[in-house]
Amino acid sequence: MSRLVIDGLKRLHGETEVHGSKNSTLPILAAALLCEGKSLIHNCPDLSDVAGSINILRYLGCEVEFSDKTLLCCADDLDKNHIPDSLMREMRSSIIFLGALLAKTGSASMCFPGGCDIGLRPIDLHLKALSELGAEISDDHGIFRCTSPNGLHGANISLSFPSVGATENVMICASVAQGTTVITNAAREPEICDLADFLNSCGANITGAGEGTIIIDGVNRLQGTRHSVIPDRIVASTLLAGCAATGGKIRLDHVIPSHLGAVLSIFSECGCDVDIRGSSIIMDAPERLTAPKIVRTMPYPGFPTDAQAPIMAMIAKSRGTTLFVENIFENRYLHVNGLLRMGANIKVEGKVAVLQGVDCLHGADVEARDLRGAAALIVAALGAEGKTTLSGLKYLDRGYEDIESTLRSLGGDVRRI
Ligand code: UD1
Repeated sequence: MSRLVIDGLKRLHGETEVHGSKNSTLPILAAALLCEGKSLIHNCPDLSDVAGSINILRYLGCEVEFSDKTLLCCADDLDKNHIPDSLMREMRSSIIFLGALLAKTGSASMCFPGGCDIGLRPIDLHLKALSELGAEISDDHGIFRCTSPNGLHGANISLSFPSVGATENVMICASVAQGTTVITNAAREPEICDLADFLNSCGANITGAGEGTIIIDGVNRLQGTRHSVIPDRIVASTLLAGCAATGGKIRLDHVIPSHLGAVLSIFSECGCDVDIRGSSIIMDAPERLTAPKIVRTMPYPGFPTDAQAPIMAMIAKSRGTTLFVENIFENRYLHVNGLLRMGANIKVEGKVAVLQGVDCLHGADVEARDLRGAAALIVAALGAEGKTTLSGLKYLDRGYEDIESTLRSLGGDVRRI
């Protein structure tokens, strides 16, 4: 079992690039399944969740090659429409293949998806929306069987919550359905816009991505294309949090600063100097951070739930008290136990956590229990006195590409053993 060993209190400095977005890559890979011919997807991160999607595509009969951040996918020889349990359970976003497979073959079957245990994570919104597009869905002891005996057709779909995954599933499926689909209360995350850009470049007709209403005029066919995935805004947030936790100064290149608006405003409130220059962010952190008053997670453009854990770790040593309100997932404080072991002062009650900044953190043996929690424990360890050993790296590797090398290049003392 591998672990990270982090010797803390090394001030991060220097510059680094941010890799491509996991949450963009996964739906784009599912959408590539609908195209005729080859798609070339650039700036793909090398992550275990991407490997999981590649395994699914290959199992279905697609040709996939992945090297040097570019993924080639061709679904012309796809010959299956069932995804086995072992592949589905690897990650939650495997549900995104449902709409794509259904649209491609007219039927699809799979079990309930896996992923981090950060909440109930039902898929009712996905299933309801797909049935509004004409899917007939049955649940056979945990295996969903979807068919579209009368074809897929456009529909007015109103989401009761702006679910990212459900919005993506509908966009993919509706892009080749007959007629027009209108999604209201759609998710507005940058990854939704990236998926729309990919699909439109394949020949789809999608407008309004990034707004609350998305309109999809179905087309007969999609053609493979070239696309470059957007930078990962959560990886960027994590690296900035690591810098701030050590009172460092770094420059992040290859970011889209506007995607980080709500996060950057928290950094400023903490006393960090944030300078945006084109696609770079230069951050200069003070010796000790000031606790922000409140961090409330919200759908985009609000503060992202995925950045809650790293930011909590970053301010564990700040001056003051912060109230966290987690509005997206029910069980997203899995990192708190690890932070407490390192000396943090945090109390959790349901979706609320109250953090009282402490003078110092100390290294400890800690275990990650979810992806962003793993990142949080690294951030805390960077700012802690002494050595931290982090296990549970299977979660980290789902979303961060070789973060130990990136942190070492910035002066951190981080090794994988
Ligand atoms: C995506 C991101 C994840 C991020 C989350 C919220 C990917 C691969 N993952 O996850 O990193 O934390 O958005 O920004 O892009 N819900 C239902 N029924 C459904 C679907 C969702 O009740 O059918 C609920 C969920 O339980 C959760 C909330 O809606 O409480 C948000 O979920 P959703 O936006 O769908 O997140 P994901 O797409 O799973």
